Amino acid sequence: MTITVRPFVDADTDEVLAVMRASLGETDVLQRNRHLFRWKHVDNPFGRSIMLVATESDQIVGFRAFMRWTLTTPQGSHFRCVRPVDTATHPDHRRRGIFRELTHAAVEQATADGVNLIFNTPNAQSGAGYLKMGWSLVGRIGVMVRPGWRFVGKSDSVASDRPVDHLTGDDRPPNGLRTLRSTEYREWRFTGHPGARYVKFGGRDSYVICRTNTRGGRRELVVSEAVGQIKQPLREATRALTGHYAVGWFRQGSPERSRLLRAGFGPVPKVTALQLVARPLDVAGIDPLDFQNWDIGFGDLELL
Ligand SMILES: CC(C)(COP(=O)(O)OP(=O)(O)OC[C@H]1O[C@@H](n2cnc3c(N)ncnc32)[C@H](O)[C@@H]1OP(=O)(O)O)[C@@H](O)C(=O)NCCC(=O)NCCS
Repeated sequence: MTITVRPFVDADTDEVLAVMRASLGETDVLQRNRHLFRWKHVDNPFGRSIMLVATESDQIVGFRAFMRWTLTTPQGSHFRCVRPVDTATHPDHRRRGIFRELTHAAVEQATADGVNLIFNTPNAQSGAGYLKMGWSLVGRIGVMVRPGWRFVGKSDSVASDRPVDHLTGDDRPPNGLRTLRSTEYREWRFTGHPGARYVKFGGRDSYVICRTNTRGGRRELVVSEAVGQIKQPLREATRALTGHYAVGWFRQGSPERSRLLRAGFGPVPKVTALQLVARPLDVAGIDPLDFQNWDIGFGDLELL
């Protein structure tokens, strides 16, 4: 039987979702439904994803999506990027080169589109495949934890009392490759997600944006953005939410990392949460394979 690669069309959505469920599974916050698919691949303010399917006898056996993203640099350049996500080959069709073929076709399309850089955080299953296909390891994203901070708030469903509001496109100057935090991006990212409920504590100039998550039966408070003086906003968060510890990560040398350190967070030695890999297509003026050149945090990377 031969495998055919073709562009995804909207009518493929349900079949693709079935392949993703069979392949990637689901969690409470990560329900692979049409809403999440639309949020990620259609409503993204950086643009509609590059999407391809692999078929055999007219059945979809593999799916490949490259999300659009824009990174800014200290020099003021805007790099058009894509982020490979939601890789899925149906379990009955693995190790036949489907992932490889879909990825090559998507890279070809990205190149033709004038994309500058591909970056992603693959899991253990797909990581080896990317390195074989010309990606390089940029660095390991660690974890910072505020331990011993069991907090029992009033309620877990405070999202409606604490909407993520008053966010503008204003951002500090980038110290490296940094997500373009436009107003549209922030709205999409923090208020539009169909599964994860983000909550904002603090005011206009000093705030944290976080969400709660369950990991190994324990509740964690995940800090996605940390702006200004965050001690008081974090205190408010622990009064309102329930959890066992707080977690976050920002790159070394960033003001956000210093804020977390001052608020009692510490890096957990030898723990890697994610591996950042990249493949430059057309990048000038900055080396994206040098981890020092990335000004990112969990909030930029976790998409759920
Ligand atoms: C990861 C996944 C997409 C690979 O799909 P696939 O179509 O079987 O992959 P391919 O046959 O094209 O393999 C390409 C290369 O990837 C690597 N690879 C694929 N599966 C691998 C595995 N189980 N272990 C180690 N390397 C693997 C190999 O380097 C392989 O090259 P090789 O066969 O020449 O050794 C598939 O296993 C899958 O859907 N897994 C579950 C979902 C997932 O984890 N997705 C990634 C995160 S979004």
